[in-house]
Amino acid sequence: MLRSSLFAGSLLAALANGAALAAEPVSDVVSRTDSHGPVLNIVAPNITSKWFEKSDYVQIIEMFVENTDDKAYVTAANGLKISVKSSSLDTVVPGTLKRLAPKQSAIVQVGVRNKRGVKAGTACSAELVSEYHGGRHSGGGSGSSAGPSAKVSGSCGIGDFEASVQSVESHTNPDWFNDAKYGIFIHWGVYAAPAYGNVGENENYAEWYWNWMHRKGDKTATYEYHLETYGADFNYDDFFPNFTTKNFDPKAWVDLFSDAGAQYFVPTTKHHDGFAIFNFSESISRRSSVHYGPKRDIIGDLFAAARKHQPHLRLGTYFSMPEWYNPAYKRYGSGSFPGGPPTNPYTGAELEYTGYVEVDDFVRDIQLPQMQTLAYEYDVDIMWCDISGSPNNMTVLAAPWLNWARDRRRQVTFNNRCGLRGDFDTPEYTTNNETVEHKWEASRGMDPHSYGYNYQTPDDEYLTGESIARTLVDIVSKNGNFLLDIGPEHDGAIKEVMQRGLRDAGRWIKSHGEAIFNTRYWKVTPGLDPLRYTTTHDAFYIHHLGAPSGTLSIADPVPYLPGDKVTVVGGKQHGKTVPVKWDGIGKLSFELSDEVVQGDEYVWTFKIEYK
Ligand SMILES: *[C@@H]1O[C@H](CO)[C@@H](O)[C@H](O)[C@H]1NC(C)=O
Ligand SMILES: *[C@@H]1O[C@H](CO)[C@@H](O)[C@H](O)[C@H]1NC(C)=O
Ligand SMILES: *[C@@H]1O[C@H](CO)[C@@H](O)[C@H](O)[C@H]1NC(C)=O
Ligand SMILES: *[C@@H]1O[C@H](CO)[C@@H](O)[C@H](O)[C@H]1NC(C)=O
Ligand SMILES: *[C@@H]1O[C@H](CO)[C@@H](O)[C@H](O)[C@H]1NC(C)=O
Repeated sequence: MLRSSLFAGSLLAALANGAALAAEPVSDVVSRTDSHGPVLNIVAPNITSKWFEKSDYVQIIEMFVENTDDKAYVTAANGLKISVKSSSLDTVVPGTLKRLAPKQSAIVQVGVRNKRGVKAGTACSAELVSEYHGGRHSGGGSGSSAGPSAKVSGSCGIGDFEASVQSVESHTNPDWFNDAKYGIFIHWGVYAAPAYGNVGENENYAEWYWNWMHRKGDKTATYEYHLETYGADFNYDDFFPNFTTKNFDPKAWVDLFSDAGAQYFVPTTKHHDGFAIFNFSESISRRSSVHYGPKRDIIGDLFAAARKHQPHLRLGTYFSMPEWYNPAYKRYGSGSFPGGPPTNPYTGAELEYTGYVEVDDFVRDIQLPQMQTLAYEYDVDIMWCDISGSPNNMTVLAAPWLNWARDRRRQVTFNNRCGLRGDFDTPEYTTNNETVEHKWEASRGMDPHSYGYNYQTPDDEYLTGESIARTLVDIVSKNGNFLLDIGPEHDGAIKEVMQRGLRDAGRWIKSHGEAIFNTRYWKVTPGLDPLRYTTTHDAFYIHHLGAPSGTLSIADPVPYLPGDKVTVVGGKQHGKTVPVKWDGIGKLSFELSDEVVQGDEYVWTFKIEYK
């Protein structure tokens, strides 16, 4: 490591400790007397409810490991190993770290399993213990010695959830969701028939058309537009016949999502207009595409196509908890969700709520059984609810659903809008400007301000491949996922400009996937423009938004050490070695050849592979 380095002098300065390398034969260059190693702490450990995917329910204990020393690095040579000591648990996969720079911290996972005879879900405690070579207490750096330890308690084994807020809120977002990073959101329903949301500063969600219709003087001018275009006697439900599947090609849709580089997709199954596009018992409602419009189970056909043609895609369902004008929602109604029956905005006349079936209680008799249908019959991975403050029976839904999925070895997840805390937060048409540790997923349309299709939006206002790639990198570097929305037209066609943007971004994403998928955020700085960072166990990725010039200087304390291999990720020069200059932490620069600068598009990515 040292021997091959041209920067041995500065390396010695930075590693004056040397102990980070103590397991290597460097003690001849670094005097033992002033040598010391990284000083580690285990911080905020949790026994989570998640298990390693594809494992036999190997439960994950998650913690931060921090290195409080101001000079020493953790490297592979330290052989850091974290395991549990507990009367309830055995270690199956010890926690390890290949690199941790001075004054930095990282997430580490330990895989555990209940000891024989300990029932899944037993309240338990454990001690996390660690050992590594070259620690301060190692008495000279030979052999391993005890490192930090920490106590943790929780529920051992992947036990049952109960229908209580506390129990369901203890559910953890599964790692596959964190690994997946990029999904396609789809807003498709009857609102795609008028497909109107005004333009420019006056634009707003086209899928809210029916609600805007009731607001004379609203900036979208939907009330006025509707009157002029369709006349006062044309009611929202009269659009049903114009919602068709003439150009809906489920295979083409899922192939597009795959070309886009997405790992999951989330279609609206029922928006606030109450018109569902999936199939459920007629005894609760007939307001759906099965009974009106195309007379088709659209979600069923779409999911079947995904399972057959793109089985790597995870499946989510957007579901509106309330319905604006459902008569059964009246007793819960408030604000924008008054309940029904609906009225004609121009005459005030009371209207039929097409497909309405008389029920006792909206939540128990419509919302809950519809969600159960999605959960069990459509077998969703992600329950993506909308309108968080609404009345709901989420604990009743979630506990048996989580338990059922677990029995089928599936880790399902739900967002923060189902009435409970949820597994992940969902900023809408906005994003976080810094790292947020609770998992989050930012959504927005390719349209500048609408999820549903708006025919008035000019083509050049849709997100391009470049803006999608940059947004994705920015979000992922801060612990987010990106759920990017498209609005298909009333007949299921997807506009060319949206397809092009998705495919352009998809080219970049596929070529740079190793630096996006399965990565974690760097717990040091979110990265100021134009730099962003992502990490894995074995490597550190530096993303430059836009084209870099000849010398790329990186002032952030990235955990590079001489001996690490630095290469280009993606584009035409993928894998090419990049010459590096390093003068200690926070003083790293890359020399980029013209080929490298010209060899990529959108975002340039470099990999530091830890020695
Ligand atoms: C453990 O849980 C606490 C409370 O939710 C949280 O603040 C902390 O960040 C978690 N630790 C890790 C490593 O995620
Ligand atoms: C419905 O579709 C028909 C046939 O495509 C078209 O002529 C008509 O203008 C549409 N009506 C509405 C309200 O969109
Ligand atoms: C809806 O489900 C019912 C009951 O399972 C079934 O008979 C019917 O064919 C389904 N409809 C569609 C359009 O899939
Ligand atoms: C189900 O929802 C209704 C309506 O909000 C509520 O009154 C009831 O308490 C809920 N039941 C449970 C078990 O959450
Ligand atoms: C992010 O935004 C918050 C709230 O506006 C602000 O307090 C914070 O300083 C911002 N952080 C960065 C890194 O810009």
